[in-house]
Amino acid sequence: MALRTPLMVVNLKTYPQGHGEAGFALCREMAAVAEASGACLAAATSALDLRRFAHKGGVPVLAQHIDVAPAGAHTGAVLPEAAVAAGAVGTLVNHAERQLDWATIETTLARAREAGLATVLCTADVEATARGAALRPDYVAVEPPELIGGDISVSTARPEVISDSVAAVAGTGVPVLCGAGVKTRADVEKAMELGAAGILLASGVVKAKDPGAVLTELVRGLS
Ligand code: G3P
Repeated sequence: MALRTPLMVVNLKTYPQGHGEAGFALCREMAAVAEASGACLAAATSALDLRRFAHKGGVPVLAQHIDVAPAGAHTGAVLPEAAVAAGAVGTLVNHAERQLDWATIETTLARAREAGLATVLCTADVEATARGAALRPDYVAVEPPELIGGDISVSTARPEVISDSVAAVAGTGVPVLCGAGVKTRADVEKAMELGAAGILLASGVVKAKDPGAVLTELVRGLS
């Protein structure tokens, strides 16, 4: 199950609704919406849930983070090769809640590439998006950190971050996802109008009372 644009990645983070049985049920709902709409919906899962969600969840699964450690004596490290063996098709890199320095970002992208994982490099602003896209991840996902988890979306509060990011990476061909505070179909539509190739979001879906209904609405804004 490969990733394709327009793409919506739901980051399950460490929300209770995104782990174990609840997270699995959410993946199944995502799969049903993807099937009904034709949209590409992917889940970024915890390392502990990755194998089950990837094999039985019905949607492409990304790791939320991988480490650059090689195989060997590195207790607790999440190896890219182990993520692939568990069924991951990709990984987030440098999420705002799991930031890396630029040298580590470069090494992580290289390790992911070698292992066969698609990469979604998260960035906080236009400058970082341009610098990150030059490293040729498969996607960049720009998210103003102050809007993450809030109720006002990047499309409304900082639309220029999306349009300027799209313009800044235009020469690279790297698709730009955006996120932070995305909750409604209108938020998604606006982001797509501004040139985004998709959305990276979390709370609007994971914490929703009826995630299936929310997703059904959100994916309508994708095209
Ligand atoms: O990884 C997605 C993210 O950081 C945005 O979170 O809750 O604002 O959709 P949220």
